[in-house]
Amino acid sequence: MYNYNMLIVLSLIAFVKGDMVPLKILNELPNQGYNGFNSPKSEDKLKLRMQPANFSGPDYLEKLKGECFKHRDPKYEYVFCPFQNITQEDIQAFYEPYKGVLGVWGQWEIKDNQFISMEMLEGSGCSAGRHRSTRVAIKCGKVTQLESVTEPDKCRYAAVFRTPSVCGSNAMVVYPRLDAELRKRWDEVSTDLYNQELTQLGYDNELERIFQAAGLRLPPSELGDLLQSAQQDKQDTDEAQGVSGSCQERMSSFQGRIKELEEEVRVKEEKIVELVMAAEGGGNQDD
Ligand SMILES: *[C@@H]1O[C@H](CO)[C@@H](O)[C@H](O)[C@H]1NC(C)=O
Ligand SMILES: *[C@@H]1O[C@H](CO)[C@@H](O)[C@H](O)[C@H]1NC(C)=O
Repeated sequence: MYNYNMLIVLSLIAFVKGDMVPLKILNELPNQGYNGFNSPKSEDKLKLRMQPANFSGPDYLEKLKGECFKHRDPKYEYVFCPFQNITQEDIQAFYEPYKGVLGVWGQWEIKDNQFISMEMLEGSGCSAGRHRSTRVAIKCGKVTQLESVTEPDKCRYAAVFRTPSVCGSNAMVVYPRLDAELRKRWDEVSTDLYNQELTQLGYDNELERIFQAAGLRLPPSELGDLLQSAQQDKQDTDEAQGVSGSCQERMSSFQGRIKELEEEVRVKEEKIVELVMAAEGGGNQDD
């Protein structure tokens, strides 16, 4: 507590004394301290809260299962393992870096008869009981790579994955990949829509059921099952390790986080002292 109070006092002095002191320091620090303890880092360290769904989609993509692809930006390293998971790790942190799951393989996003993106669901906890999730768009490219990851909405990530496998014009078409019975169902609802015996909404709902029957999309009940089996796995490991093991883990994770925060505070304190001195120096020159 002493450190934070001191920082705020120092920041205020700096603010009063100099015009150019960034207010950002004052705004950021208390927040970081608070959020730090709620972050997924101290929660369950990279335990998946959902079991990945079974492989589905164009079969030539199955070879990607078991491979992982990295992408770095200045702050994070992302690792995407198709049909498994996508994770994020802070590469700027002083000590124990933040690691989080951005999603677990769940289902395909399908639009206009095309496989568009892999929907990675139920990642690490976010604010207000929500969990991170990521849409990984699968696009044609010269080399197989995770090209980018962004966060267009809070805790909703958008990634682009490229591979030469999907460059053919029919590579991502859904219809021919369904079995004869499901294709027939699709034909029927298309006819019904054409004859105005089905509304667009009714048609979309039927299509969703067809995709679920094909294993391309997850019905809510299966999503529930996958969440539950991950819970079961977690309980089994906890029991195997014994409760004290898991307490120990949490304890050392907290200690790591405390050290990290202490280091951040120290560095920022030094910065503030520097700024105060600079401001005083500048003031004297004006005199
Ligand atoms: C993500 O999937 C890869 C590939 O199967 C696996 O090695 C890794 O342990 C998974 N990550 C987590 C956090 O379970
Ligand atoms: C996933 O695959 C396993 C093994 O092939 C199978 O037993 C299980 O029913 C499949 N799960 C779903 C939801 O289709």
